[in-house]
Amino acid sequence: MERKVAPKRNDTKRKHKSSQFDYMEVYRQLRTNIEYSSFNKDVKVVNITSSNPAEGKSSVTSNLAMVSIAKYSKVLLIDCDLRKPVQHKIFKVSNKIGVSNLMKDVHDIDIDDERYFHKFKDKESDGKLYVLTSGKSVPNPQELLASEKFKDLIEKFKEKFDFIIIDCPPLNAVADAIPVSRITDGTVFVTSARDTDKRDAKDALTMLQRNGANVLGCVLTKVDKSTRSYYSYYGNEE
Ligand SMILES: Nc1ncnc2c1ncn2[C@@H]1O[C@H](COP(=O)(O)OP(=O)(O)OP(=O)(O)O)[C@@H](O)[C@H]1O
Ligand SMILES: [Mg+2]
Repeated sequence: MERKVAPKRNDTKRKHKSSQFDYMEVYRQLRTNIEYSSFNKDVKVVNITSSNPAEGKSSVTSNLAMVSIAKYSKVLLIDCDLRKPVQHKIFKVSNKIGVSNLMKDVHDIDIDDERYFHKFKDKESDGKLYVLTSGKSVPNPQELLASEKFKDLIEKFKEKFDFIIIDCPPLNAVADAIPVSRITDGTVFVTSARDTDKRDAKDALTMLQRNGANVLGCVLTKVDKSTRSYYSYYGNEE
C-alpha cells in the first residue's frame, strides 16, 4: 500500500505559511548539486553525516529523499543510525523490521515486501520513496556497517533503485559513519549554524577524508533569520 508522506516535522505547508520561504526549493537545489558534484562518476548512493548530535542530519536526509522522487522513479532511504534511529518516527512507520534484519538475507531482496520497504508518493511526482528503517537493534552497529555483507546489500540496492540516501550517526560520537562513507559515491556533511563547533567539524571532515570518503559538500542548517538571504541556499528554518 502506498501512502502520502505527511511527517509533522517536515510539513511543507506549515513551514511555507510561517516563513514564506520555499525551503523545499533549497532541497531541490541540494539534490541538483549532488547530481552534478562529481563529473567523473554518477552519484547514486549518498550518505549524510555531521560532527556532533542534533545538527540536522536526519531532517536533511528525509527532506532530500522526498524531493528526490520528482527526479528519480525509485528512491531508497536507509536509516543507518542504528543507535538512535528516527526515520521511522519521521515517516510514522514501524521499526520492528529494517536494515539490520535484511542483512540476514542479502540474496533475495523484494522491494515490494512491505514488511521492509515503506512506500511513499506525493501528488506531483511519478517517483516513489522506499523507506528502510534501522530495524532490530544490534549490539555491534559498526561491525555490521563495516561488513562485506552490508557492502553487498548496497550493491544489490544499486541494481534496484535509482537514488539511495543513507542517514548516519555523528562522527565525533561513534565511527559508524566511516565504513558507510567508504562505500557510498559521496558524503554530505551537515553543519548547524547554531550548534556546530568549527574545530569539531574540521576534525570530522579530516577523519572522513583520511578514510577515503568522497565529501561532496556541506549543508548548513538552523540558520538565523537575519542571515537568511546569505545562507538560504544551504539550509532551512523552522
Ligand atoms: N534546519 C533546521 N532548523 C531548525 N531546527 C532543525 C533543523 N533541522 C533539524 N532541526 C531540529 O534539530 C533537532 C535534531 O534534528 P535531527 O534529528 O534532524 O538531527 P540529527 O543530526 O539527525 O540528530 P542525531 O545526531 O541525534 O541523529 C530536531 O529537533 C529537529 O527538529
Ligand atoms: Mg539523526
